[in-house]
Amino acid sequence: MNILLVGSGGREHALAWKIAQSPLLGRLVSAPGNPGMAALGEIRPVKADDIEGLIGLAREIDADLVVVGPETSIAAGLADRLAEEGISCFGPTRAAGQLETSKAFAKAFAERHGLPSGRFGVFDQAAPAKAFLDNFEPPYVIKADGLAAGKGVVIAPARAEAEAAIDDALGGRFGVAGARVVIEAFLEGEIASLFALCDGETSLLFGGAQDHKRAFDGDQGPNTGGMGAYAPAPVLSPGTVEAARTQLIEPAFKAIAAEGAPYRGALFCEMMVTEEGPRLVEFNVRFGDPECQVLMLRLESDIVPYLDACARGGLAKLPQPVWRDEAVICVVLAADGYPDAPVTGLVIAGADADFGEHVVVFHAGVRREPDGSLVSSGGRVLNVCARAPTLRQARERAYAAIDAIDFPGGFHRRDIGWRALA
Ligand code: GLY
Repeated sequence: MNILLVGSGGREHALAWKIAQSPLLGRLVSAPGNPGMAALGEIRPVKADDIEGLIGLAREIDADLVVVGPETSIAAGLADRLAEEGISCFGPTRAAGQLETSKAFAKAFAERHGLPSGRFGVFDQAAPAKAFLDNFEPPYVIKADGLAAGKGVVIAPARAEAEAAIDDALGGRFGVAGARVVIEAFLEGEIASLFALCDGETSLLFGGAQDHKRAFDGDQGPNTGGMGAYAPAPVLSPGTVEAARTQLIEPAFKAIAAEGAPYRGALFCEMMVTEEGPRLVEFNVRFGDPECQVLMLRLESDIVPYLDACARGGLAKLPQPVWRDEAVICVVLAADGYPDAPVTGLVIAGADADFGEHVVVFHAGVRREPDGSLVSSGGRVLNVCARAPTLRQARERAYAAIDAIDFPGGFHRRDIGWRALA
């Protein structure tokens, strides 16, 4: 099977790593890819939102399947164009993708279909947005409506910060993505990431993990795309997973199909596990990053049949995925200044070392210079992942590898997995 994998982050490197192990694979081409993905197949310099470029590449390599990593490709309508061309695609259409690409759409969708979530309001003017804050106690949750690369969410501890976040977003900080803001209730509980696949009709749970969204240890600092993840996460008890499946995930797949946009791909249900049960925080229409890295290390089954079945149909014929009976952790190494203004061009030494079969280093915002050195080219730079019989051992393995990597100008959290280890 020839597969075109779209994207260039740690999530896509992890997908490439897993796809490359499949006996079903003929040729793997990644676009635009990263240095780690180059070691697993070919990479081509076609950007994830260059839809016609990707269509041309899929045709050129006679792709049997296009696997879409990032939400930007979905927002740009890659799945829709591939469908017009008759090329199978793992990833939802632009219409189904609104579950992530518009937070206002997603909250209204949850409300009209009775998916448990929190109260919210949507505003394109600052004065009514600020007045709506009267409905809540701090902390306040302010979100840019559109895609903002993980930076569009502010959890403001006090009213002044909340009002500043509203002014910031509506004032153009995120461009059109912030032309509307969503203000929503802060949900008390423990955050969890649950994943499911769907082929338009049948759905299947596909693992879970717990991310760490704040930049610094102790859950301090700004919100990020995610600084580390681990699984299994105790918060995802069988009861919680079952409640999320029946109250959030399956109703969402049914409802989006009923609205005319059957879902094909991975749905990432970010939820708050409250005393009353799981509550939707947001949907994402792709695998999580860095959650995907953890899932790929834990997944024992071949991933390709699952990706292919989502695209073509046939998920009902596949068995439940098999997961390793091990703990997996992923720690993100970020460049100083992330998430606001990451420093690029920082040299990273030692990341290519062999850390043993239990440790895998995925590349994210990194490029290889002509002399072979790796330098930072984005905010989240490397993902150091490890597996072991226990989370504590997996964490020791990951941090031992990190300590052997020389990345002056980078930072990472030392407390990934703290909730499970507390
Ligand atoms: N780790 C959260 C995300 O992928 O959005």
